Amino acid sequence: MISVSKEPVVVVGNGLAGISFACALRQGGYTGELTLLSDEAEAPYDRPPLSKAYLKDGDTQRIRLDESRLNGARLLRGVRAEMLDLDGRKLTLSDGQVIPWGTLVLATGARPRELRSLEAFGKPTLTLRTLDDARRLRELIQPGRLLLLIGAGVIGLELAATAREAGCGVTVLESQARVMGRTAPPTLSDYVAGRHLRAGVDLRLGRVMAECVEGEAVLDDGSRIAPDFVVVGIGVRSNDELARAAGIRCDDGIFVDGHGRTSAPGVLAVGDVARQVHPISGEVVRIETWSNAQMQGAAAARSWLNSDTPSFAETPWYWSDQYDLRIQGVGIPRGEREVVRGDVSAGKFALLQFQGRKLVGASCVNNGKDFGLLRKLVGLEYEANDQQWASAPDLRKIA
Ligand code: FAD
Ligand code: APR
Repeated sequence: MISVSKEPVVVVGNGLAGISFACALRQGGYTGELTLLSDEAEAPYDRPPLSKAYLKDGDTQRIRLDESRLNGARLLRGVRAEMLDLDGRKLTLSDGQVIPWGTLVLATGARPRELRSLEAFGKPTLTLRTLDDARRLRELIQPGRLLLLIGAGVIGLELAATAREAGCGVTVLESQARVMGRTAPPTLSDYVAGRHLRAGVDLRLGRVMAECVEGEAVLDDGSRIAPDFVVVGIGVRSNDELARAAGIRCDDGIFVDGHGRTSAPGVLAVGDVARQVHPISGEVVRIETWSNAQMQGAAAARSWLNSDTPSFAETPWYWSDQYDLRIQGVGIPRGEREVVRGDVSAGKFALLQFQGRKLVGASCVNNGKDFGLLRKLVGLEYEANDQQWASAPDLRKIA
């Protein structure tokens, strides 16, 4: 039963996590007052296509999130939540409104880290998080132009692929010795780097920009690059300021339990902004993936509706599309042992990470069949030996 004191429900942020929370609330039978607000003026949209399909087709309709299940919710756009009063249960907005809440859901996401040294570069310099960023990028990506990407994470590499396919020259600067270091095991990093090199990307690993002079980037080895435009993809930081200022427990992210509850009564946090226990590593981390935003958001709503709901413990997974590669990863990208299934050189394989007998993670390339099963198998211990994992035609049989 819903207690009256939990109403009204106010959700700050209408990205995937906020929308998933609100839809699950309605789906679970909540008919009370529900407000969703966002500082973006846009109708809610999905972010993954912004570095891929949207840059090619520019079709905004295809990226809209479905709001049809929000029945009767109040939707406020282009308005920012600026101050949170925990004792009075009120929220002050940028247009001066003060709105009461019984339950407040912080779904404020994350924003790109920026590079100060580029402030006076004199060439268009962007990050990629919003639809507006993607609109600007669409105009800049033109055949023959040179794009300098700083950071070879998922954003940098997806953009590298999209821009190469559109006929741009692409140079990628990565400070670490390998690409996708946060999300991929080394074998996958090497494979992905090779694919970009084959596509003609000028990949500079272990390099940073030392300074920029009159539209030229000077690297730490003294080499110079004169791009037409620059995109910085060096990771994100959480939008946790509202919570932090109110005294809610945060550390680049709002700490939550398995029900999305923060340290403040009546306040939940979901999606990229939430810091939660990783079910495999046990570390308390932010999980910056589409699937987490969708599933943890919905799970927090189910817990809110029914206190018997089990703790959220879904193993995190992600995907990334680069050229003809569908990359998928689940669990953690490091173990004490790696087992290779399939043929890496043929571009269709799975890399399984083990800690003793426990399967702690898996990364797949163009291998949706294995990935579908591995997603379910990760997190448990098995009797099978490495040879069986590597060669069993059907993973279900050995697990
Ligand atoms: P967000 O989507 O960031 O939404 C938060 C919203 O809250 C924003 O609209 C923000 O403006 C608003 N907000 C913040 N503060 C306030 C405030 N004070 N008042 C009002 N509103 C506020 N993941 C994958 O697994 N696979 C992919 O291929 C993939 N591709 C991606 C490509 C791109 C270009 C990007 C940017 C992300 C990608 N992701 C991908 C990650 C995935 O999209 C995110 O994990 C997900 O969008 C997080 O959703 P969220 O709702 O938590 O946060
Ligand atoms: N110069 C060069 N490279 C750098 C620098 C720097 N000054 N600082 C960091 N990097 C590199 C990191 O070593 C890392 O490889 O930038 C890369 C950032 O990768 P990610 O952490 O994956 O971040 P990003 O690609 O920006 O993605 C940000 O978008 O798709 C989502 O889930 C994704 O939430 C994440 C967000």
